[in-house]
Amino acid sequence: MNVLLVLAALLLSAAQLGCGTAPDALPGPAGESEDIVMTAADFECLHGGVRVGRVTVWNKRGHLDEALAVAESDEPGTYPVGTVLQLVPQEAMVKRAPGYSPSTNDWEFFQLGTSADGTEIIDRGPSARGVFGACMGCHGQAPAEYDFTCGKTQSEPCGYDENQHPLFDWLVDNDARCPG
Ligand code: HEC
Repeated sequence: MNVLLVLAALLLSAAQLGCGTAPDALPGPAGESEDIVMTAADFECLHGGVRVGRVTVWNKRGHLDEALAVAESDEPGTYPVGTVLQLVPQEAMVKRAPGYSPSTNDWEFFQLGTSADGTEIIDRGPSARGVFGACMGCHGQAPAEYDFTCGKTQSEPCGYDENQHPLFDWLVDNDARCPG
């Protein structure tokens, strides 16, 4: 990470806050703040991401190599800003800027609706809920040094159950948003 760039962005946004304006993101590549506020349209057919084991990985801020290094390693690791992880089309973990949500390691959780028409955001945020309850209710049981991911450590407190793998595969294979 370019520390100077982040510092400059912080100073600039602080200056602008002082003037009474609070931009969502600073314009231009040089001033772009390192964060990702996902819209429904930013979520894609899972077949377009890189699949590592059962998990599909993207990075929307140009840090894909760093994200894949974490996903492919058995060692503990923290995903870079802009990472999108999906086990199934209907759920996503998105890595926001440092400080967004310290208690979730800055993960924003999403419950999504998917159809041939595209993606709909049903719930989002650090305390978002899916069909099986609050995402963090399970992911918070995973080792923090593995960035609250459950699959890599086959975390039993998360409710890891390999009998569910065929279901996950089926949901990915049948992602309604994928062409053809
Ligand atoms: C009942 C517990 C439980 C709940 C609730 C839950 N998850 Fe998970 N999640 C798991 C387990 C267990 C795995 C690992 C599955 C595997 O690898 O077989 C997992 C895997 C994932 C992964 C892949 C990365 C990883 O952790 O291995 C993502 C992304 C994910 N879940 C997102 C979510 C989101 C978003 C929500 C809420 C909408 C959610 N999960 C709710 C238990 C849960």
